Amino acid sequence: MTLGMHTLTAGRGLLFGGDYNPEQWPEHVWEEDAELMRAAGVNLVTVGVFSWARIEPEPGKRDFAWLDRVLDLLGAAGIGVDLATPTASPPPWLGHRWPETLPVDESGHRLWYGSRNQFCPSSPVYRERALALVEDLAERYADHPALALWHVGNEYGQVCHCDDSARAFRAWLKERYGDLDTLNEAWGTTFWSQRYSEWAEIVTPRRAPYIVNPSQQLDFWRFCSDALLAHFRAERDVLRARTPDVPVTTNFMGLFKPVDYWSWAQEEDIVSNDHYPDPADPLAPARTALTHDLMRGLAKGRPWLLMEQSTSAVNWRPHNPLKPPGRLRLESLQAVARGADGLCYFQWRASRFGAERFHSAMVPHAGADTRLHAEVRAHGRELRGLREVAGQPVPARVAMVFDWPSWWALEERGRPSDRLTATDQLFSYYLPFWERGVSVDLVPPSAGLDGYALVVVPNLFLLGDADAAAMTAYVRGGGVLVVGPFSGVVDERAHVRTGRFPAPLREVLGASGEEWQPVEGPVRCRWADGAEFAAHTWTELIEPEGAETVAEFTGGGPAVLRHRAGEGVAWYVATMPEPDALGELAERVLADAGVRGVLPELPRGVEAVRRGDVLFLLNHGADAVRVPLPHAATDLLTGSAVAGRITLAPQAVAALVRGEA
Ligand code: GLA
Repeated sequence: MTLGMHTLTAGRGLLFGGDYNPEQWPEHVWEEDAELMRAAGVNLVTVGVFSWARIEPEPGKRDFAWLDRVLDLLGAAGIGVDLATPTASPPPWLGHRWPETLPVDESGHRLWYGSRNQFCPSSPVYRERALALVEDLAERYADHPALALWHVGNEYGQVCHCDDSARAFRAWLKERYGDLDTLNEAWGTTFWSQRYSEWAEIVTPRRAPYIVNPSQQLDFWRFCSDALLAHFRAERDVLRARTPDVPVTTNFMGLFKPVDYWSWAQEEDIVSNDHYPDPADPLAPARTALTHDLMRGLAKGRPWLLMEQSTSAVNWRPHNPLKPPGRLRLESLQAVARGADGLCYFQWRASRFGAERFHSAMVPHAGADTRLHAEVRAHGRELRGLREVAGQPVPARVAMVFDWPSWWALEERGRPSDRLTATDQLFSYYLPFWERGVSVDLVPPSAGLDGYALVVVPNLFLLGDADAAAMTAYVRGGGVLVVGPFSGVVDERAHVRTGRFPAPLREVLGASGEEWQPVEGPVRCRWADGAEFAAHTWTELIEPEGAETVAEFTGGGPAVLRHRAGEGVAWYVATMPEPDALGELAERVLADAGVRGVLPELPRGVEAVRRGDVLFLLNHGADAVRVPLPHAATDLLTGSAVAGRITLAPQAVAALVRGEA
């Protein structure tokens, strides 16, 4: 069997813990930590993320003795260790002796040590030093009984424009294009006299007087993601060679633009994510659900690990409200409901010094005898009662397509409007499904679509021929497809597809257009039954070619079109409808697809999601609500029986299994 979350949860149940940085504390505190962890039900901690300077105080020296004691202590307390390769933050000696390992920004400025993340992903010196350390770490702890998981680096996302990076970019381009003529063609270098006559002329898209070539920029995004991935793989391979039975992960950051997580997820054994909902954002619960669903998609439906969340405030927003009592539990259980089998925090004990002094933790500065730590303990305890949820899938009949290269290509400078963005478009289409308790899988454009009753494409500005053909075949075979505006516009090189748009989907959508028309202020639209709604920002001059006009702009022209193609139905939305209208649209397309939410009636603010046999209900609203239930059930969290309906206080969660216990 392949490695995965089950490797960790077998025997442990759901994972609970956090980042542990013992190097910030004297050893007597470690003993107390292990005791407190045990009392809180902690069964996994991430150790060593920022310990390079402690392990290798001078080039080539090793000090593992302290880490031996930490792992022994944790092992004796029955706590598994997610051991990090400490390569996210090299010691000052690396940058001091080898300044070429430091990253350079697009203006040519070197970024220095004194913080973290200061490395160039393409630096041969950094690579060599990092791998030597990883070798020794793997060698030392391969057989340690506490070792449960490898955590490679931390939140990869570095971008660098130094000469080493330019060299690596050229090698990447040679691999992609073979020769310069093909590259010149792909980048459209006849525009603005940009033709390259030898490889040495090519550099990363450094700061230039005006808009940089969008095809070059797109390839640079691809390269940066791949360069980091190459480094990740190199570390992973060292670990795998030594410990083939220990899973490997690296922590993602949700919808993080610089790294194409679809290409990364297949290179690791466990998908893990860091997520920090903004307590001041009323839409945070839905945004969080979207991020969790993305992680489940990246894990191909298998369980994933919430590697970092906060118990209360973070310190990195300009103004940092606390989480009110009960919120840490609500948010953590939301992740369980959406497929997480591990709930971990940054970090175990609040730091006294350093840049994150004011970040919350599982043990706050005020100590263990506090409201916050009591909540941590209670949550750890109740997770044990949810053991049976581990490994369970979250079934979904709706897929939503999201793609990094399309995101990169869409948001280059010099487009009709910078107010149409990939992630806002994604979220605005996701929200009405979340509000209706309809589970959604996030998938890449190349995913097999046949298992889904409904596929939603909020925006795919960049769409390859093969993916467009697969979507067309999906509809012809009986699927329901919804496509948002400004999709199918460019090919993989970011060249505009000529002819009427959206060229590769024109036939299946039964409609085509000639002009995009961004607008100021709202535009009025009308459904065929006469009801009006507002849309904004974007309109298209489009004509039906077989599709029916489901809604039109009151000023004339179709706004929403529906086309029967083969056995299925394709919808096209040529504007950006306001949220209620997107809700109406969601209901219509769900009806076409024959898909319903998990409950017939769902009060506003309540999230409903089924995971395996368990129906999770989470009240994110400010008021108590009653949720009608179709059958009698038992709440796994309280052990109580419920029938007819359940009342949920603000921030309450129910985990219901059918029948009475
Ligand atoms: C990230 C990092 C952690 C820490 C937290 C703070 O997720 O991985 O090291 O900086 O943010 O929120």
